[in-house]
Amino acid sequence: MHNYLEDSRVMLIAHRGFSTDFPENTRAAFEPALESDIDMLEIDIHRTKDNYLVVIHDDTINRTSNGKGKVKDYSLNDLMQFDYGVIKHIKFKGQRLMTLEQVLVLIQNYPQKLLIEIKQPHFYPGIEQQLIDILKKHDISEEKVMIQSFDQKCIRNLYDMKVGFKLGVLISKRKYWYRMPNFDKIAVYADYVNPHYALVNHKFMTAAHSLELSVMPYTVNEPSIANKLIILGVDGLISDNPTKLK
Ligand code: G3P
Ligand code: CA
Repeated sequence: MHNYLEDSRVMLIAHRGFSTDFPENTRAAFEPALESDIDMLEIDIHRTKDNYLVVIHDDTINRTSNGKGKVKDYSLNDLMQFDYGVIKHIKFKGQRLMTLEQVLVLIQNYPQKLLIEIKQPHFYPGIEQQLIDILKKHDISEEKVMIQSFDQKCIRNLYDMKVGFKLGVLISKRKYWYRMPNFDKIAVYADYVNPHYALVNHKFMTAAHSLELSVMPYTVNEPSIANKLIILGVDGLISDNPTKLK
């Protein structure tokens, strides 16, 4: 099988870090990703009871730690008492939850960009402004970070705030399996439309690109699927194991 990734210019994005082999959204998954030749690191953020933005995919810690409960019901200090590595493998014991600020400090040492997904913003009023304030506090340049969410209102809010960072709308398979997104509307406030890979076809690509929306599907872990998407003209691939796609 010819591997089109070898000679393409698509961006490779490490989804929750190198999350196939390492505990997702932890330093253990981020560092090998940043030491590799990927282009971007993807993370998810939620907010603690005492208003810290923390890097975790689910709104609970049940699946990825040895604890139980909702992120928003714990203080940061409480959340730091749990282990976020051991559930993947005993060799990762001791991984702590990372704050967004810790990830910003880490990423500044590397050339890669950061793709921040705001999870369930309806739980966290004002999270858009809070995120921008933190990015400003860390002097993060507009080229260094992209912000995305499944919540189109959240991305629209960021656009209205004239934040300067590139913005992306995520398109889920569950919600869009039978219809196309409203590209015209999305193109007003976003730069990227990032769908589940199964939604990508010629029609999707033509509609997005004709409005100058870039397309970076998720979560692409098979080289054969990556090949098909590259032939269709995607701009990036969000993958749990991006270097293995080659
Ligand atoms: O970056 C896209 C992807 O992360 C969206 O889905 O559920 O893995 O956050 P999810
Ligand atoms: Ca995500």
